[in-house]
Amino acid sequence: MARLEVLLLLCVCVLTVSHAALLLSPDATKGSETGIHELKKQSLGDVKVDVQSVTVNCKVASRFAHTVMISKAMNRANISQEVVFDVELPKTAFITNFSMVIEGVTYVGEVKEKEKAEKQYQQAVSQGHTAGLVRASGRKMEKFSVSVNIAAQSDVTFTLTYEELLQRRLGEYELMIRVKPKQLVQKFEIVADIYEPQGIAFLDAYGTFITNDLLPLLEKTVTNNKAHVSFSPTLEQQRTCPSCEGTLIDGDFFIKYDVKRDKHIGDVQIVNGYFVHFFAPSDLPRVPKNVVFVIDRSYSMEGKRIQQTREALQTILSDIHSNDYFNLVLFDSSVDLWKTSMIPATVENIEEAKKFASQISVRGATDINQAVLKATDLLLQDTSNKELPDNSVSMIILLTDGDPTSGMTDRKQIQENVHRVIDGKITLFCLGFGYSLDYNFLEVMAQQNDGLARRIYEDSDAALQLKGFYNEVASPLLSEVHMQYPANAVDSLTQSHFKQLFNGSEIVVSGRLTDDDLDNFLFEVSAQGLNDINYQGKASAQEWNALFPDEEYIFGDFIERLWAYLTIQQLLQKRGSGTAEEKANATAEAIALSLKYSFVTPLTSMVVTKPQRDQEAEDTFIAEKLTEGGGRMLMLGCWGLASFLYLVDGDPHFIIEVEELNDTLCFNIDDTPGTIFNLVRDPVTGIVVNGQTIGDKKVEPGSKVHTYFGRFGIVQEKLGVRVEVTTQNIVVSQDGRKTMLSWSETRTLRSLGMELQVTKDRSLTIRMKDSAKFVIILHRVWKKHPYHQDFLGFYTLDSHLLSQRVHGLLGQFYHGLQFMVGDLHEGQNPDKPDAIMKIKGVEVNVTRGWQRDFRQDVKHGEGVPCWFVHNNGTGLIDGTHHDYIVSGIFKTT
Ligand SMILES: *[C@@H]1O[C@H](CO)[C@@H](O)[C@H](O)[C@H]1NC(C)=O
Ligand SMILES: *[C@@H]1O[C@H](CO)[C@@H](O)[C@H](O)[C@H]1NC(C)=O
Ligand SMILES: *[C@@H]1O[C@H](CO)[C@@H](O)[C@H](O)[C@H]1NC(C)=O
Ligand SMILES: *[C@@H]1O[C@H](CO)[C@@H](O)[C@H](O)[C@H]1NC(C)=O
Ligand SMILES: *[C@@H]1O[C@H](CO)[C@@H](O)[C@H](O)[C@H]1NC(C)=O
Ligand SMILES: *[C@@H]1O[C@H](CO)[C@@H](O)[C@H](O)[C@H]1NC(C)=O
Ligand SMILES: *[C@@H]1O[C@H](CO)[C@@H](O)[C@H](O)[C@H]1NC(C)=O
Repeated sequence: MARLEVLLLLCVCVLTVSHAALLLSPDATKGSETGIHELKKQSLGDVKVDVQSVTVNCKVASRFAHTVMISKAMNRANISQEVVFDVELPKTAFITNFSMVIEGVTYVGEVKEKEKAEKQYQQAVSQGHTAGLVRASGRKMEKFSVSVNIAAQSDVTFTLTYEELLQRRLGEYELMIRVKPKQLVQKFEIVADIYEPQGIAFLDAYGTFITNDLLPLLEKTVTNNKAHVSFSPTLEQQRTCPSCEGTLIDGDFFIKYDVKRDKHIGDVQIVNGYFVHFFAPSDLPRVPKNVVFVIDRSYSMEGKRIQQTREALQTILSDIHSNDYFNLVLFDSSVDLWKTSMIPATVENIEEAKKFASQISVRGATDINQAVLKATDLLLQDTSNKELPDNSVSMIILLTDGDPTSGMTDRKQIQENVHRVIDGKITLFCLGFGYSLDYNFLEVMAQQNDGLARRIYEDSDAALQLKGFYNEVASPLLSEVHMQYPANAVDSLTQSHFKQLFNGSEIVVSGRLTDDDLDNFLFEVSAQGLNDINYQGKASAQEWNALFPDEEYIFGDFIERLWAYLTIQQLLQKRGSGTAEEKANATAEAIALSLKYSFVTPLTSMVVTKPQRDQEAEDTFIAEKLTEGGGRMLMLGCWGLASFLYLVDGDPHFIIEVEELNDTLCFNIDDTPGTIFNLVRDPVTGIVVNGQTIGDKKVEPGSKVHTYFGRFGIVQEKLGVRVEVTTQNIVVSQDGRKTMLSWSETRTLRSLGMELQVTKDRSLTIRMKDSAKFVIILHRVWKKHPYHQDFLGFYTLDSHLLSQRVHGLLGQFYHGLQFMVGDLHEGQNPDKPDAIMKIKGVEVNVTRGWQRDFRQDVKHGEGVPCWFVHNNGTGLIDGTHHDYIVSGIFKTT
């Protein structure tokens, strides 16, 4: 057998990261796919799951969108198979219903308080039931995914419903539907019906996957206040070419529109005891603004980020309106002002600023506190010196890619300082560049100062994202907008005071009416603008049927649901700041509303339980909502059913594949032969995996000692099961009884809660009843090989049921990790670039290399490109590798 030289075997000079489709499980019964999803195609041979239909049905009434996705699949195989349903939905949406029809029986999801759902889930796990907890996040979308085992020749229908309030941005509402059926579908259909009582001003529909050939199939009818859009290509039309099996349907479908705005005061709709007021006057003059750009130039911005920032500043500066004032503040550990006071946006000044911005270079650490305080000072000084235009509004746009590391680093204290000095006089916007930062810190700080935070995704279009954000706030129209409604007739009003209204956006206020027979609903809007405004209006309750004569457009309680949606969103925000009691109250109220209206929010989960007939076990599925910036969910808090691969093989090399990032990390652990490492330890489910290394038979003097894993100990404490796997055999002990399995015959052993499946001379698959699934690969080496001996590799195929507390050399990665690789540069070997990886707030040198995955080809393996973390994984793993050394193969603590 070839020498296992796994470290950086081949030359690579790729900048973009590619990786093989790695999620191939060795047994053919697992995994096929359906629905609208992005799981990688698995090698299933002739075992087939047919997706029969995918339909997306969307109804929008007054910006409130209700989308139902239905997918039906049939298992044509003569064995049972796992069918996966994946949907990507907008982050701003709440899932409101999910159901499955399996062999004629319907299972409906139930929304529960998250803690209770978690309990139910843990209970299912501890009783040995399979359970699926699925969540993931992306840039604009988040992924919902469920997999169920479907009997031979049976079908399944999944129905997912979600709702969202479409937000007006840059003068339009956007409805986005992501479709990825991954195979030709008998019936494919997207249908959207939009009803806007104010009348539709324009409407565009298009799909990133809609070619010129498909374009005629996109139907769009717009009448005064209704629009109907549909797209339903036949199976033949979906083909990438006349005899191809590939599908064209893969991408995003967009509907963008705006409504007419005849009345300054906007539109008030009252239905079924709730009202909503949309306010976005169309022809107000813009108000001059005073804007300070506070730009992070710390070392972490080096490379692409600072380059994109410079690029964005060039266009942003060019667009600053001539009657605005502006300034630039650069910061790292120290803070530099471009000018000592605010500067009018004259042509000359803008040119000078652009020159200055083009020369920003990186250095030092991150002192956010000082930077924001100085920018505030600048604005307040000039305001009190009356150097800024009357009626102008002041704002700070902070751009950073890191956490405070210099000067004041206590985040709470920074928020307090900033809030105190700004004192409601300036709006603070925070742009978080990339993922190596505490987004929540920025979000709370922005909210405390009437602004908002936005994430800038590290991508080729980062400069556009920055510019796009600037455009949204470029034209303030009004400030201190007060929306007033009769106090005696309304309760549970959503936010009704707004610091600013920007051109292209919209203010939405909703409330519950205490008096149902209201005919005269008087309301008022007052605000400061170039000219102060005060509008008054009167609305009356509408008969639902009169307002919406066409039933097809409505779901009767949409204003109530819109109100609940807005209220929950605002309560969730409130939880970021305020006193402990206020936070607790906001949480309690948000939970109560989420439960009442069946919204899957960050505080609730949806649980579906499907009893299984053959075994007594049942499947429990839980859908959860992600929060941007919320701890584990920050970016990769993703435990997709097949999103990650974690393995250790060879001399021992560890591979961690991060699907969300489309990237892979690897590291080696070198220590003396005989050392036992803890690979997985989950105190909640009681699963522990340890591995012991062996060395080569003989080592040439002066050469490196190679080690490999030669023995694994797997413990399921709750079941009292211990499995010892060596290169000779497999020994299972339970209740004092021992069973030995030999590598030389294919055999399956089922005991209480565990299944061991030996594939002769090749691999051992271990399924825990609560569905953790591992594979151990046996590497046989030629008996007379002068140096090497037989060894083992360990692969985690399914770990999503292990608890959040799972740890160990591999286990710590099971729930995702956040890292970013940048600053690619030539390394020691010119063919293997080095780069800097930011992870857990530190920077680590990494090198592009390859490692091998042996699941498909036990002899040669399959090369996986990855970022190699040097020095025994230092920086990537928690602590050092010494912290994982244990004293016995079954040691559980
Ligand atoms: C992931 O990598 C593959 C292969 O390099 C590439 O084709 C694909 O576009 C990447 N996807 C994303 C989301 O970056
Ligand atoms: C099921 O499929 C397997 C493999 O495709 C085949 O060998 C077997 O005969 C089939 N069984 C039945 C009952 O069709
Ligand atoms: C959820 O879906 C099921 C099945 O489609 C349906 O019977 C039920 O009424 C729905 N629940 C809600 C709250 O809409
Ligand atoms: C507001 O935006 C619209 C386009 O969306 C534009 O026509 C109008 O001039 C803008 N108004 C101001 C004051 O900038
Ligand atoms: C929190 O809720 C309790 C009980 O409803 C109420 O008495 C209290 O005033 C609330 N506190 C705040 C700060 O809103
Ligand atoms: C990375 O390597 C470079 C040069 O080899 C060295 O100067 C730098 O200190 C290293 N950085 C880290 C974070 O180890
Ligand atoms: C890895 O750790 C071992 C044992 O502590 C040490 O001997 C070895 O030098 C380390 N390897 C590297 C590359 O740091």
